Amino acid sequence: MLLRDVWKSYKYLGSSISILRGINMIAYRGEVVGIHGPSGSGKTTLLKIIAGLERPDKGEVIVDGYNLNMLDEYGLALYRNNVCSYIPQDFAVVDSMTVYENVEIPLLLAGVDAGVRRKKVMEVLEYVGLEEKASVKVGKLSGGEKQRVAIGRALVTTPSVLLADEPTANLDWSNAIKVAELFLDIKKDFSTTVIIVTHDARLLEYVDRSMNLFEGVLKQISSPKL
Ligand SMILES: Nc1ncnc2c1ncn2[C@@H]1O[C@H](COP(=O)(O)OP(=O)(O)OP(=O)(O)O)[C@@H](O)[C@H]1O
Ligand SMILES: [Mg+2]
Repeated sequence: MLLRDVWKSYKYLGSSISILRGINMIAYRGEVVGIHGPSGSGKTTLLKIIAGLERPDKGEVIVDGYNLNMLDEYGLALYRNNVCSYIPQDFAVVDSMTVYENVEIPLLLAGVDAGVRRKKVMEVLEYVGLEEKASVKVGKLSGGEKQRVAIGRALVTTPSVLLADEPTANLDWSNAIKVAELFLDIKKDFSTTVIIVTHDARLLEYVDRSMNLFEGVLKQISSPKL
């Protein structure tokens, strides 16, 4: 994954505020990268640009050979469903649906056959440790379990890149560590590139490489542990 000179600003009360100021970044296959930065530093904005949910004002994002600037809205939808999964800050799971149904959504969107869907969903539920909760409504789960539903839903399409926005923000420390370890398993088992953004610096101990986002500039603060 490659970002080259990515800029983004938002309009606020008639003036333009620069959030990202020339971001350059490389992430390799099978690497977990942690991006740390204070609230409002632009972490979510950066992930949304990589996820193809927001367009940069300038610069390039290249993932798995796709240059996002070259994709139209339909192309970006396919990209999000096949190449790059984004786990939003608030999980965005559907409380009124079961664990199974939540994880199945991306496969329904992709038009995958019923038999294959069932197999994949059950494999993923076992992987994230939720197979026994398959038929439980997500609204009844704990925060840590909801986070694992969101991870399962992101993983079910075996993406090349997994983006996690503050995945441990609502968890106690022991559950936060479990989630961090799950991301390390995912990169090992599927060679996924995992990008985690967090304002909790403690989480950086668990990633392969750390970066810091501050005042619109991204800096590497540790070398790859590859
Ligand atoms: N759609 C938008 N329109 C206008 N301003 C926006 C928009 N999205 C984000 N911003 C502004 O951009 C800045 C960065 O927001 P962003 O959500 O990327 O920060 P963050 O680092 O993820 O913060 P947090 O840690 O609180 O989640 C903030 O000042 C925010 O108000
Ligand atoms: Mg955010």
